Amino acid sequence: MIPKINTLSGYLYEYQKSVTNPEAFWENIAQSFYWRKKWDKVLEWDFVNLDVKWFVNGKLNITENIFEKNLFIFGDKPAIVWEPNNPSEPGVTLTYRQLYEKVCQFANVLVQNGVKKGDRVCIYMPMVPEAAVAMLACARIGAVHSVVFAGFSANSLADRINDAEVRVVLTSDGNFRGPKSIPVKAVVDEALESCPLVDRVIVLKRTSMAVTMKPGRDVWWHDAVRGVPADNKATEMDAEDNLFVLYTSGSTGKPKGVVHTTGGYMVYTAYTFANVFQYDSDDVYFCTADVGWVTGHSYIVYGPLLNGATVVMFEGVPNYPGVDRFWDIIEKHKVTHFYTAPTALRSLMGYGTEPIERHDLRSLKVLGSVGEPINEEAWQWYYTHVGKGNCPIVDTWWQTETGGIMVSPIAGVTPTKPAYATLPLPGVQLMIVDNEGNELKGNNVEGNLCIKFPWPGMLRTTYGDHQRCINTYFATYKGLYFTGDGVKRDADGYYRILGRVDDVINVSGHRLGTAEVENAINSHPLVLESAVVGFPHDVKGQGIYAYVVLDAASKTHDPEKIKDSLLAAVTKVIGPIAKPDKIQVVSGLPKTRSGKIMRRILRKIAEGDATSLGDTSTLLDPGVVQEIIGGALVRVKA
Ligand code: WT7
Repeated sequence: MIPKINTLSGYLYEYQKSVTNPEAFWENIAQSFYWRKKWDKVLEWDFVNLDVKWFVNGKLNITENIFEKNLFIFGDKPAIVWEPNNPSEPGVTLTYRQLYEKVCQFANVLVQNGVKKGDRVCIYMPMVPEAAVAMLACARIGAVHSVVFAGFSANSLADRINDAEVRVVLTSDGNFRGPKSIPVKAVVDEALESCPLVDRVIVLKRTSMAVTMKPGRDVWWHDAVRGVPADNKATEMDAEDNLFVLYTSGSTGKPKGVVHTTGGYMVYTAYTFANVFQYDSDDVYFCTADVGWVTGHSYIVYGPLLNGATVVMFEGVPNYPGVDRFWDIIEKHKVTHFYTAPTALRSLMGYGTEPIERHDLRSLKVLGSVGEPINEEAWQWYYTHVGKGNCPIVDTWWQTETGGIMVSPIAGVTPTKPAYATLPLPGVQLMIVDNEGNELKGNNVEGNLCIKFPWPGMLRTTYGDHQRCINTYFATYKGLYFTGDGVKRDADGYYRILGRVDDVINVSGHRLGTAEVENAINSHPLVLESAVVGFPHDVKGQGIYAYVVLDAASKTHDPEKIKDSLLAAVTKVIGPIAKPDKIQVVSGLPKTRSGKIMRRILRKIAEGDATSLGDTSTLLDPGVVQEIIGGALVRVKA
């Protein structure tokens, strides 16, 4: 059993232990798992060249820790309770034993298709149990999964497939999302036109929409599994063998593949799930994330299943068929733990409390928030109307790179404070620094959030480019992992995350690089250059504001059509999630004499705060700023 904290003094004691002797602390947690061979040493680390190893030379398979270790105890317990997009379609419940059999069978299918330990497999699938089966089947045979959110465009998918040198892709014919059916396979087909390495695509039938199957390359999932035995001996993995790669956006260039390894990630996700949520054996846990994001990896699949939890997996969207869908699911499955994003809460708040009152939510015990800062109003609404004042809210701060939750209340243990992620979990050593890297000690300070000591769930590298990983995370402040977030430590020592301080924006909990969106806009033939910034948005947290300089040839085009084609360009290059909310056509961008775009100024204007632009004396052409302030927005999306 994973050791669980249940009092505040217990937390303080464990935290102290984890800092004074991290190796002993994590060794004790790691003992609760099944290792084929024990580690020789708990930790080796170097934050300058980034070389981190946990449970050195330990051997294991993460799926043996989900299945074999536990089947005698809870083989017949529901592992995944799947709720389809359309509530009139029957759902599916898979017990641990049934899930185990599906995972073993699909592991054999992968082997039959030539997938070997260390090979990368791309998963581009809707929220169906087979997506989890696919991930676990990869883990079973030591293949490295790269799940790509099925809302990304063909271009984005192709980039990710090529970067990870993927040969096998798992997908579906289509995807049901609210009232829509989305052609998933068609996107894969388009992507694969530029992915010469891919020679096998396994296609799950979900919507039964028409698809083209390329002979010799594409096979149906149901044909591939037919007659394949449901037993598979797990492949032995080193603790530091790669478990998965997951692409995420940064402030420069294309998204990078964050690499997580096996042993540390297992220990960290399982420990944080058990403790933060205080999951008990009869509880029902519902996380609304998509498996395409890290929340889906760590807190739909690995963390909960390693704890033998019952997980509700939802295919659809919060407002279909009605805006009470979440509350309906909670009532129907007697959900005890509900984990969602502030943006979903803010969009549902707009419908008032009546949709909630239609449902019996008395099963709820713990509420979670993730992905972006939760504003005080949303926090209060969540607490009062969803939790009826009885359920602690765990505001969990973490990142794709951290693998698991880093700063969060422990449910029912840590006193909460609206909009505060509160305190670091055991093993998490935070440091706040100013822009020069000086530590800001004591309370009542605000600065850049860094982490000064390794934790088992941390990223180990970025796929195919270790130097990029060092430059991105370990070079800004020597010897520290830099999160990219601004933070405040208040008078009580509580942490409040203030949002990104780099050129990353968080739109509805989706992380995007401003440079990435600019590149997409610049792909439009009439665009000379562009600058993208975030601005405060009531529902999305941040919206996307694009300043665009057009070619003279644009004069002969209908401005409305240009705007639509700019949005189409972004949808094509990245996906609909990156579409700007506002586009302003300008004749030039404010630049320094050395040619650097002054984003600070553009951000201020986008925020509607043009009165305090600060020092503009270094600008090449200060007139541009006045023009931008006076200029009309060309497009504001509804
Ligand atoms: C960024 C990481 C964590 C899984 C989903 C997002 C922001 C995340 C919180 C929170 C304030 C948060 C940060 C972080 N963020 N959780 N509870 N409070 N901000 O993972 O896509 O890697 O994004 O999301 O800015 O750096 P991600």
